[in-house]
Amino acid sequence: MKSILENRPALEREIDQIAEVAGYLWQKGWAERNGGNITVNITEFVDDEIKALPAISEVKQIGCTLPNLKNCYFYCKGTGKRMRDLARWPMENGSIIRILDDCASYVIIADNPVNPTSELPAHLSLHDYLIATGTDYKAAIHTHPIELVAMSHNPRFLDSKEITRVLWSMIPETLAFAPLALGVVPYEMPSSIALADATLEQVKNNYDAVLWEKHGVTCVGPDVMQAFDVIDVLNKSANIYMCAKNMGFEPDGMTDAAMTEIQEVFNLPKVRPTKK
Ligand code: 13P
Ligand code: ZN
Repeated sequence: MKSILENRPALEREIDQIAEVAGYLWQKGWAERNGGNITVNITEFVDDEIKALPAISEVKQIGCTLPNLKNCYFYCKGTGKRMRDLARWPMENGSIIRILDDCASYVIIADNPVNPTSELPAHLSLHDYLIATGTDYKAAIHTHPIELVAMSHNPRFLDSKEITRVLWSMIPETLAFAPLALGVVPYEMPSSIALADATLEQVKNNYDAVLWEKHGVTCVGPDVMQAFDVIDVLNKSANIYMCAKNMGFEPDGMTDAAMTEIQEVFNLPKVRPTKK
């Protein structure tokens, strides 16, 4: 069977990057079994031939209406599929979907009828908002980073300002490379619309990464590698915090003055950039 990637090098490179990140998620121990999911808006790679491809699934409901996604195309990890398998065979462990005219349903168009992730409502709600607000963000990742999830078991860290302050203060790079971290969503049922809505609220508050209490992190970014980087630097800080606690002390953290200096010197954004 012909793959949609055949003779489409730009789309193939995009899918290769998704597979590369899936491999990192597995190597980091953040993607046990089918844990985590990735979606990427690939509409920019869609040509007339792709637009004409027939559905290979029945029409499926998203669970909400997302007006900005009309006729958009997404690569989605398959529900129940393993990141470590996706790293090697992205088109067998994920699929490409087309959002239909009603903005509330979709069909799978390639390569295989692999059902998208159960977290699709959360992912697509974020994509819808990111388009509506004129960003060039194309990727959303949900994963289970160990140290960040561990921190979410402490009520002290269920406050976005407090956990962000502590993580930023562990190492200057986290502040520099995750300047829009970290919203928090109190526990909600995985794959529920309530979880999708609560995540969207945090992204609307200009957090790029959102901690799901006792579950994981969901992060948006211009591409899948940059979204991964944000989670990676945040979890690095969580790991440093944990190492200090394991050595028997509460880490001091950088001072507020030191952090303000970094924000000013690097001219760090406080809100998500939009396209000119
Ligand atoms: P899926 O296998 O449906 O993508 O679910 C994994 C997950 O992490 C749910 O939160
Ligand atoms: Zn999950």
